[in-house]
Amino acid sequence: MNTVIVGAQWGDEGKGKIIDILAQDADYIIRYQGGSNAGHTVVVDGKEYIFHLIPSGILHRNKICVIGNGVVVDPQVLLGEINDLKSKGVYINNKQLRISQNCHVIFPYHRILDKLRESKRTFKIGTTGRGIGPCYADKIARCGIRMIDLLNPSVFKIKLKDNLKEKNEIFKKVYAYGGFSFEKIYRDYLKMTDRLSKYICDTVVLINEAARLKKSLLFEGAQGTFLDIDFGTYPYVTSSSATAGGACIGSGLPPLKIDKVIGVVKAYTTRVGEGPFPTEFSKSFGDFIRNQGREFGATTGRPRRCGWFDSVLARQAVLVNGISELAITKLDVLDTLKTIKVCTGYKYRGKIFRSFPYDADVLTKNKPVYEEFSGWLKTTSHIRSYKQLPVNTKKYLSRLQDLLRAKITMVSVGSRREETIFA
Ligand code: GDP
Ligand code: IMO
Ligand code: MG
Repeated sequence: MNTVIVGAQWGDEGKGKIIDILAQDADYIIRYQGGSNAGHTVVVDGKEYIFHLIPSGILHRNKICVIGNGVVVDPQVLLGEINDLKSKGVYINNKQLRISQNCHVIFPYHRILDKLRESKRTFKIGTTGRGIGPCYADKIARCGIRMIDLLNPSVFKIKLKDNLKEKNEIFKKVYAYGGFSFEKIYRDYLKMTDRLSKYICDTVVLINEAARLKKSLLFEGAQGTFLDIDFGTYPYVTSSSATAGGACIGSGLPPLKIDKVIGVVKAYTTRVGEGPFPTEFSKSFGDFIRNQGREFGATTGRPRRCGWFDSVLARQAVLVNGISELAITKLDVLDTLKTIKVCTGYKYRGKIFRSFPYDADVLTKNKPVYEEFSGWLKTTSHIRSYKQLPVNTKKYLSRLQDLLRAKITMVSVGSRREETIFA
């Protein structure tokens, strides 16, 4: 069974936790897009792990974790992550971690350009500053440098020289920024390549051979549907295909080999960074939920914006990704609320939009239409079976299921592995 896990909102839905659980029954766990802008949290035996590039299945010892060709890799972050894991007693060898030779590489000029571009924009995106956008831009402009290029110093030399020739001019003339030394980058990256080369391989062959042998592949989406470059709230998006289709492009597994797509949604909504957010809470209520849900970015530590569950948004995610099953996370965060609202439409100039509008004016100026639910006012974190959930919780979940037209198969009631209900 080959399954894609995608975020159905604006990222941080709790994908890391869900991947860690589903990884128990998988043979391969594959990241297919994004880069170290992702922060996926897994909590096991009281220890918290935050993964940026390494697939969240790595804590299971006998699994193969793959960084697919669609991922942009910052070697410094990756080596840091391998070291951090070592300090927590998790040792990674080259059987457990494989990196595609076709991954594009993030360089210091990508990180700097990311920040400089943000500083010049009138309408800021609020990027993570990890160089993601500029690296994907180079990939599409066909001047990017891939892992396989790092393995061949003479090829790497020519490509890096070409890049710096053009980029240093731009840095100086457009951004009044000093520029980058070829020698330093060349030396630093060759050093890091020495440590990473044992993980680099042809992952397309690896993955397809695994599929032929009927191994179970689990694809770990990063970001979320509304940060997707095509289906998100453009331009307030990331630069990759975060939706399920990205799993094929970013790994080399053909589309007909995907069996199932599971969408991960929070029981409410959050967003970090700028951009429209129709169901966003008022400041004081937002502060309250942020504290309840500890809604601070796993990568940047920024406070996340919080709002009610938006079924217009999530329904579009079901459509675009072909989601048949849902994992609802952070249900426990709503435990103390007397009333809970769900958005079922956007009212704009007398018209109610029930399907997701991409018009920026509608997205920013609409008045959400809400259905109200009585809260359950009971703690849920200790509950382990769907039946035992309070009646009002079941009413809430049942309505979400109807609105989204997908089946809830997992409910998460806490950050720990065991705080999970299989419906
Ligand atoms: P991801 O990017 O989708 O993997 O999500 P993040 O790791 O960025 O953010 C999710 C946060 O919520 C993490 O701190 C998780 O430990 C935490 N979390 C996940 N599921 C639950 C849950 O059901 N309840 C609570 N209270 N926290 C959760
Ligand atoms: P995970 O995988 C939430 C957001 C940034 C910004 C926009 C563009 O943990 O869910 P980028 O650095 O990618 O160019 O930033 O996308 N963003 C995320 N928000 N979760 C993420 O990843 C995100 N990755 C990027 O905040 O608004
Ligand atoms: Mg995250």
